[in-house]
Amino acid sequence: MSSIPVITIDGPSGAGKGTVARQLASELGYHLLDSGAVYRAAALHALHCNADLDDERSVMNALASMHARFEPHPDGVQVWLGDKNVTPDLRLETTGNAASKVALMRRVRESVLDEQRSFRQAPGLVADGRDMGTIVFPDAQLKVFLSASREVRAKRRAKQLKDKGIEVIISDLLQEIGARDERDSSREHSPLVAAHDALIIDSSELSIGAVVEQILSALPREVTAG
Ligand code: C5P
Repeated sequence: MSSIPVITIDGPSGAGKGTVARQLASELGYHLLDSGAVYRAAALHALHCNADLDDERSVMNALASMHARFEPHPDGVQVWLGDKNVTPDLRLETTGNAASKVALMRRVRESVLDEQRSFRQAPGLVADGRDMGTIVFPDAQLKVFLSASREVRAKRRAKQLKDKGIEVIISDLLQEIGARDERDSSREHSPLVAAHDALIIDSSELSIGAVVEQILSALPREVTAG
């Protein structure tokens, strides 16, 4: 078991995990793991290889030739596949949906475990995703489960995409978010569930700053004492 502190933030898409995790990591001077980006990169590479996203063997064959690099950046992680910066493609809804398909596969999940755990470096890590507290870092010093109503999440996602110049129709987004929630929560391997010892925060009515405050005040003393 590592003594390097980890704070995990799990929850459904659009709950604000990424922004909260970034702000928290910056306040604490910790490293950041955006585990969704790992699944998105895997899905994108599989798509580039024309893999069948419903076939585990086809996806695993494609992943054998993947060379992904994750570089920290103030706006979120920058991701490279080989020598190509694929960050803009990574954020597309189509990539998110493809990611949630390959994330169903046990062998895919196992193949990215070491990569994710390698982000645990001093002085500490903030990791966001779906199974950070349950599977990847079960010994985390603080586990948070961040949720929000589906409508609020759809509106936030639409704004995020609009800021990037991508126009979406809210009703389509609601439907996609619903389908993704269902897939993430009902899958056999590492389903989206709150860890039994997680602090549960509903961010529907809270600002990002208020969520970060709640998390900072819940940090165990061993972490805050550095
Ligand atoms: O968080 P983000 O929307 O980038 O994640 C994309 C997809 O990757 C999720 O819908 C989920 O299916 C998958 N994922 C996962 N486990 C994680 C992070 C993401 O299964 N820890």
